[in-house]
Amino acid sequence: MRNNIVAGNWKMNNDSSETEVLLTQLKSFKKPEGVRIMVAPAFTQLAQSTALLKDDAVAVVAQNINAAASGAYTGEVSASMLKGVGVHTVILGHSERRSLFHETDAGLASKVKSTLDAGMEVIFCFGEELKERKSNTHFDVVAQQIRVALFELPVSAWKQIILAYEPVWAIGTGETASPSQAQEMHSYIRSLIASKYDQATADSVSILYGGSVKPNNAQEIFAGEDVDGGLIGGASLKAEDFMAIVNAF
Ligand code: 13P
Repeated sequence: MRNNIVAGNWKMNNDSSETEVLLTQLKSFKKPEGVRIMVAPAFTQLAQSTALLKDDAVAVVAQNINAAASGAYTGEVSASMLKGVGVHTVILGHSERRSLFHETDAGLASKVKSTLDAGMEVIFCFGEELKERKSNTHFDVVAQQIRVALFELPVSAWKQIILAYEPVWAIGTGETASPSQAQEMHSYIRSLIASKYDQATADSVSILYGGSVKPNNAQEIFAGEDVDGGLIGGASLKAEDFMAIVNAF
């Protein structure tokens, strides 16, 4: 059956000394059973983070990769480089990568493939913009993002996929999707996977919600039957807030 997961996306925050402080604090908390906990520091802090968290239940995740295995790609990092520093999971398709760095669903499909081929796991992010929700096209937008990037994969690949529904209008804005909006979309996503693949595959995929999840709203959001946890931005930068969210199931 699927896992409950809480992952902290640090984005471009936390230098080495801040990373050391935050991870040392996170290590000091007792971790609940039955929740996978992850943090995603910047590339420069990954090796430091895997070393610091060596004997801890918190896993280290990267925020991006390049689809190529190696070569003339100045400034880029490959899947095998990440594996070499103890990282086995990669966030792909975050809305900031889509809007600020022009990532497309087709480009993401090849990043997903490279990550899976390297034996790693993907947290695939998608979600609609405000105008799309207002024009009631949010289901179509999300379906298209998932279809293009993921529906060429064989059913066996879905063991390595975690989904993260992040409505763009809820990211960093303090405005969350309501628990029923989140549940409605997550249930729709699961039905989409069931109709393309099969019900067992759909039921086994963890679908996270991201967008202004905080200690005071995590419990009601995670209560949704199809909501298996969260991808947390701002609130993952404070150990107490992040652990409060981890404990919200
Ligand atoms: P916030 O929790 O800061 O809204 O960010 C969500 C996010 O983008 C996680 O990837």
